[in-house]
Amino acid sequence: ARKRKESMLAAHDLVAKLYHHLLLNTDHGSRARNYLLNRQMQLATIEEFGLGYSLESWDFITHFLEKRGFSLSLMEEAGLLSRKDKNSRPFDRFRGRVMFPIHDSQGRVVAFGARTLGDEQPKYLNSPETPLFNKSQLLFNLHRARAHIRRQQEAILFEGYVDVISAWQAGVHNGIASLGTSLTEQQARLIRRNAESVILCYDSDQAGIEAAFKGADLLVAAGCTVKVAQMPKGMDPDDYIRQHGGEKFKQEILLNAFSLPSYRLQVIRSRYALNDETERMKFIHEALEEISRLPSAVERDHYLRQLADEFHLSLDAIKQEQRKIFKQQK
Ligand code: UTP
Ligand code: MN
Ligand code: MN
Ligand code: MN
Ligand code: MN
Repeated sequence: ARKRKESMLAAHDLVAKLYHHLLLNTDHGSRARNYLLNRQMQLATIEEFGLGYSLESWDFITHFLEKRGFSLSLMEEAGLLSRKDKNSRPFDRFRGRVMFPIHDSQGRVVAFGARTLGDEQPKYLNSPETPLFNKSQLLFNLHRARAHIRRQQEAILFEGYVDVISAWQAGVHNGIASLGTSLTEQQARLIRRNAESVILCYDSDQAGIEAAFKGADLLVAAGCTVKVAQMPKGMDPDDYIRQHGGEKFKQEILLNAFSLPSYRLQVIRSRYALNDETERMKFIHEALEEISRLPSAVERDHYLRQLADEFHLSLDAIKQEQRKIFKQQK
């Protein structure tokens, strides 16, 4: 089993270098180079992350691996090749895509993420689960970001690896991401082992908001202090950085990250038309339900005051109402 894993690792290392070479030094790679250029990806970033390009071919990687003596069925198990059924000949899994090497915590390439150059589906194709690649345990970029995360005692969790790379290029070096799945308990614990505080920086769409709520609960359960950064509607961190630059991303988005209760109240608020009196009362009620769930009396007090101030209500009335809700929740 050890030999098999070593062979899989060696193949990933070689293939990553080959993809990288194809991207930077061949005519075939020019469309992919232009694609990355259009996304404002700099050469130094392409080098740092070892980005590559897989040829539009069914057997280029297959022949490459075969010539070097790798077992093709092992390479299929490693996720580099695919096949239609058990007995048919393996072929290249990744074709005509920008390749993003995925490293384990020791910095070894164990998988790939791959993006189409156009809008073909699926947009992203990742390596399958393999003996090297356990999606629920691995965090993209952790090997590179770890020292930064420890020093700052803060990690930034993104939704996509492109966001991580874009942030890195903009000087934000403590970014990590889960890979095509929502955050798991194991990943939350892994983050906690490296930092106390986490900023969730997911896409500003319905999927991103839901993922942030779920991720936040897991991180809190793992013992992290969680903040949530909010992008303008419909944007993801990479869009934002490209449009406004890294400085603004740090100053406006990261520094203004909400505490978790504020974020929740914020999302609830966005569902109500607050200039309508009935809606306003409904919002206040739902906000009180949310505040009542906070475990700390000091925190509850803080948000109750804020609510009273904003809607010009007496703190007594707000507190009385909140106690009622608090009792119902017990
Ligand atoms: P997004 O669709 O938000 O990706 O998915 P993105 O990085 O913003 O895409 P582009 O390149 O800017 O258009 C976020 C993450 O979800 C996973 C990938 O890990 C991606 O980075 N994903 C998304 C998939 O695994 N498969 C998909 O088809 C789409
Ligand atoms: Mn290089
Ligand atoms: Mn998204
Ligand atoms: Mn996105
Ligand atoms: Mn994006």
